Amino acid sequence: MLFRQLYDAETCTFTYLLDDESSHEAVLIDSVIEQSERDSQLIRDLGLTLKYLIETHVHADHITGVTCMKEAFPRAKSVYNASAGVDAPDVLVSDGDTLQFGSHRLKVLCTPGHTDACTSFLIDDKVFTGDALLIRSCGRTDFQQGDPGRLYDGITRKIFTLPDHVEIYPGHDYNGFTSSTVGEEKTLNPRLAGKSRAQFVALMNGLKIPYPKKIDVALPANLKCGAVDSGGMPKVSSG
Ligand SMILES: [Fe+2]
Repeated sequence: MLFRQLYDAETCTFTYLLDDESSHEAVLIDSVIEQSERDSQLIRDLGLTLKYLIETHVHADHITGVTCMKEAFPRAKSVYNASAGVDAPDVLVSDGDTLQFGSHRLKVLCTPGHTDACTSFLIDDKVFTGDALLIRSCGRTDFQQGDPGRLYDGITRKIFTLPDHVEIYPGHDYNGFTSSTVGEEKTLNPRLAGKSRAQFVALMNGLKIPYPKKIDVALPANLKCGAVDSGGMPKVSSG
């Protein structure tokens, strides 16, 4: 399986491209609208057929590239958690569902708490955790129906129960890390290692984090799969 980790420096967002090397069916996880030309060019250069545009959650810090990428790749289908409350996605997924591309399957793991519909995706020995579990950190829980107790349950029951060697690929990193492992985060994540549920909830409720800069623009657009008026849509060549 081809695997590429792509990065948006302005919002410290990771986008992931996975491809089945025999059929060339591909999926793109958590695209960023400003990177649509980069991503579509890469997909065309590699000769891939984009099957799914997958979102781990409704982002508050950037506008998703889903709608923009669908203009370039009209056969690609947008994928959201069934409880995300997004207007008109193509595919809704729930815990335990699978998404097939070529001979590969992504398994859906519901890991709410950062938002009420956060989803992680597991494939082989990799798990894409969105903003539920970050490297040595985790997603904030102070808006978008955030709930630290649910986040603790999701991480400890769905992610920390995976084998220790499974690699963690988060939705963001602000410190220059690119991946981790389940075993590493279980023992070294300062918000979770050795913490009870009550300790974690108290820690999260005590965080003082600035309001996201783009939330007032990003949330309304992301609730419409990243649709913005044509003046705000990057020009992306057709796939
Ligand atoms: Fe987020």
